[in-house]
Amino acid sequence: MVHALLAVCVAVCACLSSAFVAPSSFAGAKVVSKAVTKSVARTSMSAAEDAFVPDMNRRVAMNLILAGSAGVVVLGLAVPYIAFFVPKSAGNAGGGVIARDAVGQDVTVEGWLGTHLPGSRELVEGIKGDATYLTVKQDKTIQDFGIVAVCTHLGCVVPWVQAENKFICPCHGSQYNADGKVVRGPAPLSLALSHIDTESGKVVFKPWTETDFRTGEAPWWK
Ligand code: FES
Repeated sequence: MVHALLAVCVAVCACLSSAFVAPSSFAGAKVVSKAVTKSVARTSMSAAEDAFVPDMNRRVAMNLILAGSAGVVVLGLAVPYIAFFVPKSAGNAGGGVIARDAVGQDVTVEGWLGTHLPGSRELVEGIKGDATYLTVKQDKTIQDFGIVAVCTHLGCVVPWVQAENKFICPCHGSQYNADGKVVRGPAPLSLALSHIDTESGKVVFKPWTETDFRTGEAPWWK
């Protein structure tokens, strides 16, 4: 009986002692855990420091690639957008401007004479984009000057009226003879002129800066 009681007491003491020992081992584990964490942290920082340079290089490279890609996309969109607002310039040719027809094609002497009869006066795009008459003479050549079709009164485009052998402005009735000289107001001045030359078979307008042969005066449009 005494032995049995002693055995029970020993067992209870063992349990109690283990009950009190456990927390202390847990605390020990915490300490160990903290130490391990610090150690791991130091190791990680050390590793991070070792890996810092290559990581930054990769980041810089990725940023450059991204920036470059974005730049290409932005440029690809911006260039056509900006070009849309830039006036289409007629092609330059030796200080002149290549004439362009109604669909924007360069006017060639051969092509024009092949489709236009002697005596015809038709509009093409001239210097500064102004509508300008090309005249086919009776000898089937193109007249060596163009007549700008912008009325000198308020700027209407002046049509050629074959039946009247004149340019007659539909806005306020101004009239110009076949060379563009004003013969009836309210337009105050004759139609502007430009020289016509040919280069590589194309019709080219060049500025008229000399005396206006119709009036004997300096050109007002200079
Ligand atoms: S705009 Fe041509 S006559 Fe007035």
